[in-house]
Amino acid sequence: MHIAIIGKGNVGSALQAGLSRLGHQVQAVGRDPQQIHQAALASELLILAMPFSAMDDVITALGVAADSKIVIDATNLLTESLHLADGFDTSGAEQLQARLPAARVIKAFNTCFASTMSSGHVKGEQLVGLVAGDHAPAKHIVLEIVDALGFDAVDAGPLLMARYLEPMALLNIRLGYVQGLGPDIGFRLVR
Ligand SMILES: NC(=O)c1ccc[n+]([C@@H]2O[C@H](COP(=O)([O-])OP(=O)(O)OC[C@H]3O[C@@H](n4cnc5c(N)ncnc54)[C@H](OP(=O)(O)O)[C@@H]3O)[C@@H](O)[C@H]2O)c1
Repeated sequence: MHIAIIGKGNVGSALQAGLSRLGHQVQAVGRDPQQIHQAALASELLILAMPFSAMDDVITALGVAADSKIVIDATNLLTESLHLADGFDTSGAEQLQARLPAARVIKAFNTCFASTMSSGHVKGEQLVGLVAGDHAPAKHIVLEIVDALGFDAVDAGPLLMARYLEPMALLNIRLGYVQGLGPDIGFRLVR
């Protein structure tokens, strides 16, 4: 699959490594709007892996290039003081879907640390890979990718569930960086 990753930082580079290992054709791009647009045009699946504050710029750069594409939203809406910037009656992913109505937005990867994203494991333990979205075929493809990377892939429900996945990410971040557990942690779902 041809995949474009917007953002070449911790998340972008981890997912690029993992997805390349699986045999996908992965192009990671930075903040150049033309490169973002061209990479999106050339790809079937896009992954947003830049700060949420860059969302306006990225949506503008994507334009119609995101139409009919699967768009994985791995971003988190954090304030500088590591609190949730929005929630309860919306989520970053739902706002993204409203602004890219022809895209198939799927929330994934946001509840784990970048260091775990290429393998779905930490300290030999398999992490849960929670995936939410409204477009069933797109979500199925993302669940398969999350599983192939090594996660325990779980369908978390419609995109509205991003309202719960985004605070869950904040819990992960605060456990790691405020409570001092460090980034070698992650969530499992025992069932
Ligand atoms: N780090 C984690 O463990 C983790 C886990 C789950 C989710 N997330 C979320 O994933 C996203 C990326 O996190 P990260 O840790 O990878 O951040 P990061 O290491 O700071 O990398 C961010 C990347 O986005 C690029 N960027 C900045 N503004 C941009 C723009 N306007 N258009 C396109 N690209 C732009 C940056 O480019 P420059 O290098 O030019 O600034 C950089 O390559 C964030 O929303 C974060 O909340 C992070």
